[in-house]
Amino acid sequence: MLEIKNLHARIAEDGTEILNGIDLVVKPGEVHAIMGPNGSGKSTLSYVLSGKDDYEVTEGDILFNGESILELGPDERAAAGFFLAFQYPIEIPGVATMTFLKAAINAQRKARGESEITTPDFMRLVKETSAKLNISSDMLKRPLNVGFSGGEKKRNEIMQMALLQPKLCILDETDSGLDIDALKVVSEGVNALRSPDRAFIVITHYQRLLDHIVPDVVHVLSKGRIVKTGGPELALELEKNGYADFVDVAA
Ligand SMILES: Nc1ncnc2c1ncn2[C@@H]1O[C@H](COP(=O)(O)OP(=O)(O)OP(=O)(O)O)[C@@H](O)[C@H]1O
Ligand SMILES: [Mg+2]
Repeated sequence: MLEIKNLHARIAEDGTEILNGIDLVVKPGEVHAIMGPNGSGKSTLSYVLSGKDDYEVTEGDILFNGESILELGPDERAAAGFFLAFQYPIEIPGVATMTFLKAAINAQRKARGESEITTPDFMRLVKETSAKLNISSDMLKRPLNVGFSGGEKKRNEIMQMALLQPKLCILDETDSGLDIDALKVVSEGVNALRSPDRAFIVITHYQRLLDHIVPDVVHVLSKGRIVKTGGPELALELEKNGYADFVDVAA
Protein backbone atom coordinates (compact mmCIF):
# COMPACT_ATOMS: atom_id res chain seq x y z
CA MET A 1 0.00 0.00 0.00
CA LEU A 2 2.60 2.53 1.13
CA GLU A 3 6.26 2.26 0.28
CA ILE A 4 8.71 4.88 1.46
CA LYS A 5 12.11 4.54 -0.20
CA ASN A 6 15.23 6.25 1.07
CA LEU A 7 13.23 9.39 1.79
CA HIS A 8 15.20 12.54 2.38
CA ALA A 9 13.40 15.80 3.04
CA ARG A 10 14.29 19.30 4.14
CA ILE A 11 12.55 22.46 5.21
CA ALA A 12 11.83 24.42 2.04
CA GLU A 13 12.53 27.79 3.61
CA ASP A 14 16.03 27.29 4.98
CA GLY A 15 17.11 23.93 3.55
CA THR A 16 17.55 22.21 6.93
CA GLU A 17 17.63 18.45 6.40
CA ILE A 18 15.12 16.70 8.66
CA LEU A 19 14.52 13.28 7.12
CA ASN A 20 17.70 11.38 6.32
CA GLY A 21 16.78 8.25 4.42
CA ILE A 22 13.57 6.66 5.67
CA ASP A 23 12.59 3.23 4.40
CA LEU A 24 9.17 1.95 5.37
CA VAL A 25 6.70 -0.50 3.86
CA VAL A 26 3.13 -0.51 5.16
CA LYS A 27 0.81 -3.23 3.88
CA PRO A 28 -2.99 -3.04 3.78
CA GLY A 29 -4.54 -3.89 7.13
CA GLU A 30 -1.41 -3.13 9.12
CA VAL A 31 -0.93 -0.72 11.98
CA HIS A 32 2.56 0.73 12.32
CA ALA A 33 3.54 2.73 15.38
CA ILE A 34 6.29 5.32 15.14
CA MET A 35 7.99 6.37 18.34
CA GLY A 36 11.10 8.45 18.91
CA PRO A 37 12.51 11.37 20.86
CA ASN A 38 11.24 14.93 20.48
CA GLY A 39 12.52 16.52 17.30
CA SER A 40 13.41 13.23 15.62
CA GLY A 41 11.22 14.02 12.59
CA LYS A 42 7.98 12.16 13.28
CA SER A 43 5.66 15.07 12.56
CA THR A 44 7.83 16.06 9.61
CA LEU A 45 7.37 12.58 8.14
CA SER A 46 3.60 12.91 8.50
CA TYR A 47 3.65 16.34 6.84
CA VAL A 48 5.84 15.13 3.98
CA LEU A 49 3.46 12.18 3.46
CA SER A 50 0.45 14.49 3.38
CA GLY A 51 2.18 16.82 0.92
CA LYS A 52 2.56 19.97 3.01
CA ASP A 53 4.49 22.41 0.87
CA ASP A 54 6.78 23.67 3.66
CA TYR A 55 8.94 20.63 2.97
CA GLU A 56 10.95 19.47 -0.03
CA VAL A 57 11.79 15.89 -0.86
CA THR A 58 15.41 15.89 -1.96
CA GLU A 59 15.93 12.17 -2.50
CA GLY A 60 13.97 8.95 -2.52
CA ASP A 61 10.32 8.32 -3.25
CA ILE A 62 6.90 7.70 -1.72
CA LEU A 63 4.83 5.09 -3.52
CA PHE A 64 1.13 4.56 -2.88
CA ASN A 65 -0.22 1.39 -4.46
CA GLY A 66 2.90 1.25 -6.58
CA GLU A 67 2.80 4.80 -7.91
CA SER A 68 4.83 7.80 -6.84
CA ILE A 69 2.76 10.48 -5.13
CA LEU A 70 5.52 13.08 -4.93
CA GLU A 71 3.97 15.17 -7.68
CA LEU A 72 0.50 15.11 -6.08
CA GLY A 73 -0.77 18.02 -3.98
CA PRO A 74 -2.31 17.53 -0.52
CA ASP A 75 -5.86 17.55 -1.91
CA GLU A 76 -5.01 14.92 -4.53
CA ARG A 77 -3.38 12.76 -1.87
CA ALA A 78 -6.49 13.12 0.29
CA ALA A 79 -8.64 12.08 -2.65
CA ALA A 80 -6.39 9.07 -3.14
CA GLY A 81 -7.16 8.10 0.47
CA PHE A 82 -4.54 9.76 2.68
CA PHE A 83 -5.63 11.20 5.99
CA LEU A 84 -3.50 13.05 8.52
CA ALA A 85 -4.71 13.78 12.04
CA PHE A 86 -2.54 16.65 13.20
CA GLN A 87 -0.55 16.82 16.41
CA TYR A 88 -1.97 20.33 16.84
CA PRO A 89 -5.32 20.62 15.03
CA ILE A 90 -5.82 24.17 13.78
CA GLU A 91 -8.73 26.40 14.74
CA ILE A 92 -10.73 27.86 11.86
CA PRO A 93 -12.94 30.69 13.08
CA GLY A 94 -15.89 31.47 10.83
CA VAL A 95 -16.16 27.94 9.44
CA ALA A 96 -18.84 25.85 11.08
CA THR A 97 -17.68 22.34 11.91
CA MET A 98 -20.58 20.80 10.01
CA THR A 99 -19.91 22.92 6.91
CA PHE A 100 -16.27 21.91 7.01
CA LEU A 101 -17.06 18.20 7.33
CA LYS A 102 -19.52 18.30 4.46
CA ALA A 103 -17.11 20.23 2.25
CA ALA A 104 -14.34 17.73 3.06
CA ILE A 105 -16.52 14.76 2.14
CA ASN A 106 -17.74 16.40 -1.05
CA ALA A 107 -14.27 17.49 -2.16
CA GLN A 108 -13.18 13.86 -2.05
CA ARG A 109 -16.31 12.61 -3.77
CA LYS A 110 -15.82 15.18 -6.51
CA ALA A 111 -12.19 14.20 -7.00
CA ARG A 112 -13.34 10.61 -7.41
CA GLY A 113 -16.06 11.60 -9.88
CA GLU A 114 -18.87 10.79 -7.46
CA SER A 115 -21.96 12.89 -6.80
CA GLU A 116 -22.27 15.08 -3.68
CA ILE A 117 -23.62 13.57 -0.49
CA THR A 118 -27.23 14.58 0.14
CA THR A 119 -27.98 16.63 3.26
CA PRO A 120 -30.14 13.92 4.90
CA ASP A 121 -27.44 11.29 4.26
CA PHE A 122 -24.79 13.62 5.63
CA MET A 123 -26.85 14.41 8.77
CA ARG A 124 -27.45 10.73 9.40
CA LEU A 125 -23.78 9.86 8.94
CA VAL A 126 -22.61 12.63 11.28
CA LYS A 127 -25.19 11.75 13.91
CA GLU A 128 -24.15 8.10 13.96
CA THR A 129 -20.43 8.83 13.93
CA SER A 130 -20.47 11.62 16.52
CA ALA A 131 -22.53 9.49 18.90
CA LYS A 132 -19.92 6.73 18.74
CA LEU A 133 -17.15 9.21 19.55
CA ASN A 134 -19.04 11.03 22.32
CA ILE A 135 -19.08 14.27 20.37
CA SER A 136 -21.96 16.53 21.37
CA SER A 137 -24.20 18.21 18.83
CA ASP A 138 -23.31 21.46 20.59
CA MET A 139 -19.67 20.97 19.58
CA LEU A 140 -20.66 20.36 15.97
CA LYS A 141 -22.47 23.70 15.88
CA ARG A 142 -19.37 25.65 16.84
CA PRO A 143 -16.72 26.91 14.40
CA LEU A 144 -14.12 24.26 13.58
CA ASN A 145 -11.92 23.55 16.60
CA VAL A 146 -12.46 27.06 17.99
CA GLY A 147 -12.52 26.87 21.76
CA PHE A 148 -12.45 23.07 21.61
CA SER A 149 -10.42 21.58 24.40
CA GLY A 150 -7.33 19.61 23.40
CA GLY A 151 -9.17 16.32 23.78
CA GLU A 152 -12.21 17.60 21.89
CA LYS A 153 -10.00 18.58 18.95
CA LYS A 154 -8.51 15.08 18.85
CA ARG A 155 -11.92 13.43 18.96
CA ASN A 156 -13.07 15.74 16.21
CA GLU A 157 -10.12 14.60 14.08
CA ILE A 158 -11.08 10.97 14.59
CA MET A 159 -14.62 11.85 13.56
CA GLN A 160 -13.31 13.38 10.32
CA MET A 161 -11.36 10.19 9.74
CA ALA A 162 -14.43 8.05 10.35
CA LEU A 163 -16.47 10.16 7.94
CA LEU A 164 -13.85 10.19 5.19
CA GLN A 165 -13.02 6.48 5.41
CA PRO A 166 -9.43 6.97 4.21
CA LYS A 167 -7.13 4.17 3.06
CA LEU A 168 -4.05 5.38 4.89
CA CYS A 169 -4.56 7.06 8.25
CA ILE A 170 -1.68 8.90 9.87
CA LEU A 171 -2.29 9.86 13.49
CA ASP A 172 0.22 12.27 14.98
CA GLU A 173 0.11 12.03 18.79
CA THR A 174 -3.62 11.67 18.76
CA ASP A 175 -3.36 10.45 22.35
CA SER A 176 -1.63 13.49 23.81
CA GLY A 177 -3.92 15.52 26.03
CA LEU A 178 -6.63 12.89 26.16
CA ASP A 179 -8.14 11.89 29.47
CA ILE A 180 -8.49 8.18 30.21
CA ASP A 181 -12.05 7.93 28.91
CA ALA A 182 -11.29 9.96 25.77
CA LEU A 183 -8.28 7.75 25.09
CA LYS A 184 -10.61 4.78 25.09
CA VAL A 185 -13.13 6.55 22.88
CA VAL A 186 -10.45 7.52 20.38
CA SER A 187 -8.86 4.06 20.39
CA GLU A 188 -12.22 2.41 19.87
CA GLY A 189 -12.86 4.84 17.02
CA VAL A 190 -9.57 3.79 15.42
CA ASN A 191 -10.11 0.09 16.06
CA ALA A 192 -13.57 0.28 14.52
CA LEU A 193 -11.91 1.56 11.35
CA ARG A 194 -9.28 -1.15 11.21
CA SER A 195 -9.90 -3.25 8.14
CA PRO A 196 -7.95 -5.46 5.73
CA ASP A 197 -7.84 -2.69 3.12
CA ARG A 198 -6.91 0.19 5.41
CA ALA A 199 -3.58 0.93 7.07
CA PHE A 200 -2.54 3.15 9.97
CA ILE A 201 0.62 4.95 10.97
CA VAL A 202 0.29 5.92 14.61
CA ILE A 203 2.82 8.35 16.03
CA THR A 204 2.96 8.27 19.80
CA HIS A 205 5.21 8.77 22.79
CA TYR A 206 3.37 6.38 25.02
CA GLN A 207 3.02 2.64 25.15
CA ARG A 208 -0.35 3.29 26.85
CA LEU A 209 -2.03 4.05 23.50
CA LEU A 210 -0.62 0.85 22.03
CA ASP A 211 -2.40 -1.17 24.73
CA HIS A 212 -5.60 -0.03 23.07
CA ILE A 213 -4.49 0.18 19.44
CA VAL A 214 -2.25 -2.86 19.17
CA PRO A 215 0.30 -2.27 16.40
CA ASP A 216 1.72 -4.91 14.06
CA VAL A 217 5.05 -3.13 13.81
CA VAL A 218 6.83 -0.55 15.97
CA HIS A 219 9.56 1.73 14.60
CA VAL A 220 11.93 4.04 16.41
CA LEU A 221 12.81 7.22 14.59
CA SER A 222 15.94 9.13 15.51
CA LYS A 223 17.46 12.06 13.66
CA GLY A 224 15.29 11.51 10.63
CA ARG A 225 16.00 7.80 10.30
CA ILE A 226 14.39 4.58 11.41
CA VAL A 227 16.95 3.11 13.79
CA LYS A 228 15.01 0.13 15.10
CA THR A 229 12.00 -1.91 14.05
CA GLY A 230 10.23 -4.57 16.07
CA GLY A 231 6.89 -5.87 17.27
CA PRO A 232 4.64 -4.49 20.00
CA GLU A 233 7.18 -5.64 22.60
CA LEU A 234 9.57 -2.95 21.37
CA ALA A 235 7.21 -0.27 22.71
CA LEU A 236 7.19 -1.96 26.12
CA GLU A 237 10.96 -2.08 26.09
CA LEU A 238 11.15 1.64 25.25
CA GLU A 239 8.70 2.47 28.02
CA LYS A 240 11.00 0.72 30.47
CA ASN A 241 14.43 1.73 29.23
CA GLY A 242 13.90 4.89 27.20
CA TYR A 243 15.65 5.50 23.89
CA ALA A 244 19.23 5.24 25.15
CA ASP A 245 19.76 1.75 23.70
CA PHE A 246 18.88 2.83 20.17
CA VAL A 247 19.70 6.48 20.03
CA ASP A 248 22.96 8.25 20.50
CA VAL A 249 21.54 10.53 23.17
CA ALA A 250 24.78 12.31 23.93
CA ALA A 251 25.30 13.60 20.40
N1 LIG B 1 9.22 24.59 9.60
C1 LIG B 1 10.28 24.32 10.36
N2 LIG B 1 11.21 25.26 10.62
C2 LIG B 1 12.29 24.98 11.39
N3 LIG B 1 12.52 23.79 11.96
C3 LIG B 1 11.64 22.83 11.75
C4 LIG B 1 10.47 23.02 10.95
N4 LIG B 1 9.79 21.88 10.92
C5 LIG B 1 10.49 21.00 11.65
N5 LIG B 1 11.60 21.56 12.15
C6 LIG B 1 12.61 20.90 12.98
O1 LIG B 1 12.72 19.58 12.56
C7 LIG B 1 12.96 18.71 13.64
C8 LIG B 1 11.94 17.59 13.64
O2 LIG B 1 10.68 18.11 14.00
P1 LIG B 1 9.37 17.22 14.14
O3 LIG B 1 8.24 18.15 14.48
O4 LIG B 1 9.25 16.39 12.94
O5 LIG B 1 9.74 16.32 15.40
P2 LIG B 1 8.86 15.24 16.16
O6 LIG B 1 9.61 13.97 16.08
O7 LIG B 1 7.47 15.27 15.67
O8 LIG B 1 8.93 15.77 17.66
P3 LIG B 1 7.82 15.73 18.85
O9 LIG B 1 7.96 14.40 19.49
O10 LIG B 1 8.29 16.81 19.78
O11 LIG B 1 6.49 16.00 18.26
C9 LIG B 1 12.93 19.56 14.89
O12 LIG B 1 14.25 19.83 15.26
C10 LIG B 1 12.21 20.82 14.44
O13 LIG B 1 12.64 21.94 15.16
MG1 LIG C 1 5.68 15.79 16.47
